[in-house]
Amino acid sequence: MQTKILAPSEIAEAASIIKNGGLVAFPTETVYGLGANALDAKAVRKIYKAKGRPGDNPMIVHIANKADIFKVASEIPPRAKLLIAKYWPGPLTVVLKKSALIPKEVTAGRDTVAVRMPSNKIALELITAAGVPIAAPSANKSGSPSATTAQHVLDDLDGKIDAVIDGGETDIGLESTVISMSDKPMLLRPGKISLEELKKLLGKIEVHPSVTKKTRKSVALAPGMKYRHYSPKTDLILVQKANVHALIESYAKKKKTVALITTKEKHCDAAHLIVYFKTIDSMAKHLFATLRDVDKKCDVIIVEATSERELGLAVMNRLRKAASRII
Ligand code: TXA
Ligand code: MG
Repeated sequence: MQTKILAPSEIAEAASIIKNGGLVAFPTETVYGLGANALDAKAVRKIYKAKGRPGDNPMIVHIANKADIFKVASEIPPRAKLLIAKYWPGPLTVVLKKSALIPKEVTAGRDTVAVRMPSNKIALELITAAGVPIAAPSANKSGSPSATTAQHVLDDLDGKIDAVIDGGETDIGLESTVISMSDKPMLLRPGKISLEELKKLLGKIEVHPSVTKKTRKSVALAPGMKYRHYSPKTDLILVQKANVHALIESYAKKKKTVALITTKEKHCDAAHLIVYFKTIDSMAKHLFATLRDVDKKCDVIIVEATSERELGLAVMNRLRKAASRII
């Protein structure tokens, strides 16, 4: 299959591909999504195949109007309504009891569905023009860092999907915050909308163990989280306690090229390549692109741990999952 690269002005063509059961990658404010008609089980099955995604990892349903939530979810508790009123459109996904319209392929057989209304204009136009909710996981090969440009999408999925809409680099760079509201509020995946912020609105929120631990064991509520994620092919060492300088020097002695990713200004010259981020926002925005890039250029990637406050929790969550070692 030839993958078409569409301009944002070619929404009508992209929408007709979706309506006809095809796959279109599109930008959102977080990362690129790989979309199919969420009401078409056969189309949704193609997403799993194109990504090489395990069949037990459910996907997010994207809508363009708040009122469409009633089509995809059967129950919207009062506190979920508060979240929707405050954060939609935006980078927040809410897990609710599903409606009968949503096929089991979307939810991997669960009785809940993850829903989000993105704020990206191209995404909203595409969903509106398609006239159906769009199921879309991140548009990367399963296990790889998420795509934040159309080129990343092509690097992973060229020839496997019908089209990609090139909307430039995404704004936030990390996937949406996922919160389950089908029972007691539980944070399943941290993102730009922080746990601290959500607590102000909802009060107590449980945090799923996969948010802070590097767990690959079977996890009941956060199904996708047991797989290795966001991972470059090169070994990634996340340094929490170890001495970074000594570590880099030990690799340099063995003639290994080291890429260092850090938010600390005082870094180590023994690294061959240093990627320094001044703010946690810029680290979040460029993290996946950086992982894809340095992967090709070095023997080992060393990342210095950041604070876990606010957006830092999301950055560290992705790094723990990408890491082959945490020391
Ligand atoms: O920012 C985002 O959320 C991007 C853009 C494209 O919207 N999408 C995205 O999708 O990151 P994906 O499939 O890569 O991640 C969706 C996450 C997975 O961890 C999945 O396990 C979880 O949401 N999820 C989906 N449905 C769920 C459900 N019913 N219950 C619990 N978790 C669910
Ligand atoms: Mg993903």
